[in-house]
Amino acid sequence: MKTLEIDIRRADISDADAIAGVHHAAWLGAYAGIIPHKALTRMVGRRGTRWWKDAIRRAANVLVIEMGGDVVGYATLGRNRARQLPQQGEIYELYLKPEYQGIGLGTRLFAAARKQLRAHGLKGLVVWALEDNTNAISFYAGQGGRDLAEGVEVFDNKALRKVAFVWN
Ligand SMILES: CC(C)(COP(=O)(O)OP(=O)(O)OC[C@H]1O[C@@H](n2cnc3c(N)ncnc32)[C@H](O)[C@@H]1OP(=O)(O)O)[C@@H](O)C(=O)NCCC(=O)NCCS
Repeated sequence: MKTLEIDIRRADISDADAIAGVHHAAWLGAYAGIIPHKALTRMVGRRGTRWWKDAIRRAANVLVIEMGGDVVGYATLGRNRARQLPQQGEIYELYLKPEYQGIGLGTRLFAAARKQLRAHGLKGLVVWALEDNTNAISFYAGQGGRDLAEGVEVFDNKALRKVAFVWN
């Protein structure tokens, strides 16, 4: 029987195309019906292969998770951007292809991202999720995050509430 190996590693320039594909599928899957269609299409359109190549080249912290040699998810991480929160690290994005969700890969990728932030000496962690993204909200609550702060993000004319989960 063929076993499907799971591997998590830093992204390389050659992963840009695959990450763009994951981004496209995951964002449409997660946000269709939540973020207005035009804004969502625009956001996804901006993040093609070239955008991801530049991000990886600029030494952004991008992790990929592979299953059987295919990139099926990614996470981006770095310093916390919200000055009002004392946690030093942030996971900016964590996305899996829809057909690979719900089988434990997000839990693994989240643990790897936390480990990487710790290795960079960043203490504590913040993740923002849109309140209407109920899968993400239950996922982060399940990972032991405390929902501590709230904010609003405006997409075209639609204001959506977002929640910050923190880990100390
Ligand atoms: C949110 C996401 C990263 C979670 O990763 P995942 O691999 O699907 O989650 P896991 O299989 O590791 O599940 C861990 C827990 O999350 C919750 N969860 C995962 N998928 C869920 C779903 N579809 N509905 C409800 N809860 C879900 C469950 O509580 C699960 O707990 P369990 O192990 O007791 O069943 C992933 O589903 C995803 O990429 N979703 C779309 C993009 C997104 O919303 N990203 C986060 C943006 S902030």
